[in-house]
Amino acid sequence: MAHAPQNPNSSLIAEPSHALAGRLRVPGDKSISHRALIFGALAVGETRITGLLEGEDVLATAQIMRQFGAEATRTGEGAWSVRGVGVGALREPAEALDFGNSGTGARLIMGLVAGHPITATFIGDASLSRRPMGRVIAPLTQMGAIFHAREGGRMPLTLTGARHTMPITYESPVASAQVKSAILLAGLNAPGITTVIEKVPTRDHTERMLRAFGAKVETESREDGAVAIHLTGQPELVPCPIVVPGDPSSAAFPVVAALIVPGSEITVEGITLNPHRAGLYTTLIEMGGDIEIMNQREEGGEPVADLRVRASELRGIEVPPERAASMIDEYPVLAVAAAFASGNTVMRGIHELRVKESDRIAATAAGLRVNGVKVHETEDSMTVEGRSGHVEGDGTVATHMDHRIAMSFVVLGLGAQRPVTIDDASMIATSFPDFAGLMRGLGATLAGQGQ
Ligand code: S3P
Repeated sequence: MAHAPQNPNSSLIAEPSHALAGRLRVPGDKSISHRALIFGALAVGETRITGLLEGEDVLATAQIMRQFGAEATRTGEGAWSVRGVGVGALREPAEALDFGNSGTGARLIMGLVAGHPITATFIGDASLSRRPMGRVIAPLTQMGAIFHAREGGRMPLTLTGARHTMPITYESPVASAQVKSAILLAGLNAPGITTVIEKVPTRDHTERMLRAFGAKVETESREDGAVAIHLTGQPELVPCPIVVPGDPSSAAFPVVAALIVPGSEITVEGITLNPHRAGLYTTLIEMGGDIEIMNQREEGGEPVADLRVRASELRGIEVPPERAASMIDEYPVLAVAAAFASGNTVMRGIHELRVKESDRIAATAAGLRVNGVKVHETEDSMTVEGRSGHVEGDGTVATHMDHRIAMSFVVLGLGAQRPVTIDDASMIATSFPDFAGLMRGLGATLAGQGQ
């Protein structure tokens, strides 16, 4: 049941694949890359970054740091030099800040602007303009910022930062590293201690990097599993070299491809297995995935490892809902792995997927169905009926401006019986610019105009 692609200029067709083989490095971690540029812009002096992800989302953040008066210069492949202006010294940007597709860039930088007495307008693409910003507007307003947003707290919006930023204690109703980071970034220019309480801990790259730049950040674990993060405001941030490790959220695509394409064996080098990011790998191993974690080491303040992955017969499992925060971006590709498993895979506690670059529960379920896989969804869960290795394919998947939906269904196509068409692969460049090239390097056949 193939349909004509909606956008023939950027469609991509994934053909059923022979065994995948080889070693690869995936691009730098997206979360760490955004933060490296932002903290570099706040430190006085030169911050050197290597391994930066040069995807569209991160390049937008680099451009925005320049609009604030910092220098951000590319000195080689993934190598950047940032000369910052100091906490409290951002220049008011003359033009609107364009975040493209990037929710992380937009929300973190709302925190940054909220702590400075400047006004900035935040714009982005159609996907970003649909996403909820109320979750950062609420705490940042308490800290003294003033927002003028579209109905429902959507972008475009204009934000005037606080003249005297107030430190707050905030317990976020959503498990979100973006919300936590926005508050901490605003708290940098507040006198006294800003505290964020997380019922469910989320990725801690902001805390790690703040410490590396010389700020005082204390993390207090509570008995009920919650954590309180205390930041002492108005530090002098000191430049610190940043080595960006490989992105586990990007590595997820070749890893799942190797698991589902019979005979495959690949090695992905140098990805961070920060415990707040590694949930997918734990889950795939529980499903019977042959994933060997090798050469564990620490790089740039993050735990890093190589993964050797061999094709495996996967079994469906129930993914513990408390694991969701540590694999929040990986559910679409997990659902693809689940389609090839035997038995059902149940994913609960995933309502946040409804407000990502697309409604990822709806987009994933639709993409699976059009390729012959049964899926049941509720507001905050998804159950995939595994087909024990035999996924029909032959569908055209609507990506809804979502890079991870596009890449997940390329992976599905490699393992399916018939080719799978991705209607618009252009968004892949936001996080994984050479995705198609790297997959071809492992032996995948990808046709079409997109990439
Ligand atoms: C990110 C946090 C997560 C994640 C996003 C990157 C970050 O978003 O989905 O891709 O870098 O802080 P939420 O904070 O909305 O869960």
